[in-house]
Amino acid sequence: MENLSAFAYLIAAVCFIMSLRGLSSPDTARRGNMFGIAGMVIAIVTTLAMPNVLSYELIIAGILIGGAIGTGIALKIQMTALPQLVAAFHSLVGLAAVFVAGAAFYAPEAYGIGEAGNIGAASLIEMSLGTAIGAITFTGSIVAFGKLQGIFRSAPVTFAGQHMLNAALGGLLVLLVIWMCVDQSATLFWAIVLLSLAIGFLLIIPIGGADMPVVVSMLNSYSGWAACGIGFTLANTALIITGALVGASGAILSYIMCKGMNRSIINVILGGFGADAGAGPAAGAGGEDDRPVKAGSADDAAFLMENASSVIIVPGYGMAVAQAQHALREMGDLLKEAGVKVRYAIHPVAGRMPGHMNVLLAEANVPYDDVLELEEINRDFAQTDIAFVIGANDVTNPAAKTDPASPIFGMPILDVEKAGQVLFIKRSMASGYAGVQNELFFRDNTMMLFGDAKHVVEDIVKSME
Ligand code: TAP
Repeated sequence: MENLSAFAYLIAAVCFIMSLRGLSSPDTARRGNMFGIAGMVIAIVTTLAMPNVLSYELIIAGILIGGAIGTGIALKIQMTALPQLVAAFHSLVGLAAVFVAGAAFYAPEAYGIGEAGNIGAASLIEMSLGTAIGAITFTGSIVAFGKLQGIFRSAPVTFAGQHMLNAALGGLLVLLVIWMCVDQSATLFWAIVLLSLAIGFLLIIPIGGADMPVVVSMLNSYSGWAACGIGFTLANTALIITGALVGASGAILSYIMCKGMNRSIINVILGGFGADAGAGPAAGAGGEDDRPVKAGSADDAAFLMENASSVIIVPGYGMAVAQAQHALREMGDLLKEAGVKVRYAIHPVAGRMPGHMNVLLAEANVPYDDVLELEEINRDFAQTDIAFVIGANDVTNPAAKTDPASPIFGMPILDVEKAGQVLFIKRSMASGYAGVQNELFFRDNTMMLFGDAKHVVEDIVKSME
């Protein structure tokens, strides 16, 4: 039985690796998801078939309740609220790691890791690390969720000596873990839990709403490592491999996001960025400007694009908010029928999570071949008649190249200003996520199309028809 379950767990782990591979590109993402589902089914069935599962009632009740809640949330959730949903889910992974470690601490015989007061040293180390990382993930994710959901103020909360305090508490945690491994006392176990809960809270409060998606991805990584640690305690290979995959992919994702925003991970963790910027356009922070801009209508935009030979569409967060992707695809199809070359340019941090734009365009059946990454298309703007920017702002802001004082300086941007004409759809002159004004709005070759992205594109489509 043991060999059989080890083999089944190995197959599940291979499925998870295939899943990650599939999810790395939109045209293989569905297959990737199927591999993920298959791996999870194999892992669950194998675990349930283990001889040490004594009764099924509680497990089935848990699966039914959890499954029903998860399905309800997944059906209702808006794409734009995914980052906070992910944060909320991570908090549960962290809490689960603490509970499993607690169960193993109080009933080590059930896990085959010794007896109460006489647990093996390796198991104690794994258990206390899993507990600490799990508890940090729990409170950290709750703060991230609260900031993204607007329950807490998204601005960084900072105070004198904050980093010193965090470093001191981190040192104390290491001492407690060592002491617990020697002493094996329940008081020390709960002291580790409480201290880690406090550290999770203190680590995330100084980070502003603008950096929260990176933090969510980092917490995702922590929750993976917590699961991995618990996998060692339970001697469960599937949990060890899956936890390590989640831990590593979350860390890589955080790195990619930091690179896309030209920030270092240390800079994000130490916090403070986003003090003035709101958690998005709703905050409308900064950037209001009295200078005149050229505003046009949907008819103007339709006329210009139908008479162009090439159009590059640049989607951003506003397209996601307005759910304009279907209308946008319709517009793209009409332009193609009129003989216009249409492509989509995707910035690595457009929207609020990696791949945000790709997912929405794929949902609207935009052909994958028309969707190009920044490096693939940036040089083409100079030979393009029209850059059609829909709900994107920061990712087109030339201040990132020219203004060393700008908070987005150094961030790679899409060179839309090099196109013959730039059309911007947005509702107002409000700034984007980083809270900085975009000089492009005031340029001669820019035309603003004010309004909700979906409505404006629908009007353009009507005008073209
Ligand atoms: P933003 O710079 O946030 O600009 C979005 C624009 O959309 C806003 O200026 C807003 O202007 C407009 N908008 C909002 N709702 C709209 C609607 N219903 N209809 C039309 N327009 C609407 O977005 P971006 O260019 O996609 O840049 C992303 C930003 O998020 C970057 O600063 C990036 O660093 C940050 N960020 C991204 C990620 C990832 S991984 N994607 C992670 C962390 C941070 P109005 O209010 O005037 O309409």
